[in-house]
Amino acid sequence: MTAEVISGTELARTIREEIRGQVSEFEAAHGSVPGLATVLVGEDPASQAYVGMKNRAAQEAGIHSRQITFPAETSEAELLGCVEGLNADPGIHGILVQLPLPEQVREEVVLEAVAPHKDVDGFHPVNVGRLQAGVPGVLPPCTPKGIVEILLRSGHDPEGKHAVIIGRSNIVGRPMASLLLQKGRGGNATVTVAHSRTRDLAEVARQGEILIVAIGRPHFVTASMVRPGAVVVDVGVNRVDDPNSERGYRLVGDVAFDEVREVAGAITPVPGGVGPMTIAMLLSNTLQAAKASLEGHG
Ligand code: GUN
Repeated sequence: MTAEVISGTELARTIREEIRGQVSEFEAAHGSVPGLATVLVGEDPASQAYVGMKNRAAQEAGIHSRQITFPAETSEAELLGCVEGLNADPGIHGILVQLPLPEQVREEVVLEAVAPHKDVDGFHPVNVGRLQAGVPGVLPPCTPKGIVEILLRSGHDPEGKHAVIIGRSNIVGRPMASLLLQKGRGGNATVTVAHSRTRDLAEVARQGEILIVAIGRPHFVTASMVRPGAVVVDVGVNRVDDPNSERGYRLVGDVAFDEVREVAGAITPVPGGVGPMTIAMLLSNTLQAAKASLEGHG
């Protein structure tokens, strides 16, 4: 069998169009548009590129976007001052502080300073706890939220299925497990979280009707680790040397795509899979936060 390749790029395009329509409706009803602030500290090229993409996507969807850039030597106090200002700004409904932060700044202190109702990354401990507790209306982290959309929109509803997640990070693995366990649409799965210390990892992985891989190792999942017909979602973005590429490297996922596509029923590519969906979900969370703010939750 050769797997169906699920295009996250295509799905994200559709979702971004839908969000554009919803932003227009929001503006017609309320006379203002949702606002997103991104905060970038330092000059890491990958972070600059990500933040640039997020702002462009917001603008294309009709969302007001404001990028605040700080030099790498910025103090924690200065950053906290910025976050406080954004928390108090009624035109800003979503705040995203791009990670990683420089070492003089404690990441957890800054993330906890963001008002939970403006935390469109879903990284604030209050939102982490609410997601875990299944509180409705919580802002979930963008990558796992995007993966649920991939599954639903490609016709692979997780309900009743065994989903195996490889990776236990706070950004992907753990919130992914919470979302798939939720009661309701996009949830109701049986969930196993495996990781680098899992014994017989290949055997555990092979049980997954849905296999979500976020372990950060290039081509880690090979064909023998995949149940025939499984839906494989590759969250990895790894740089590997490639002298034939202009940049000297190329991006590959955590899944050995060429061999796994011969076993899987469906698979997301890298690039063009989960990545574009993450950005679409940031817009979705910003719109969700703006709507909630009108209902008095903000
Ligand atoms: N750095 C890498 N991924 C992310 C993300 O999803 N959100 C933020 N804020 N920073 C990141």
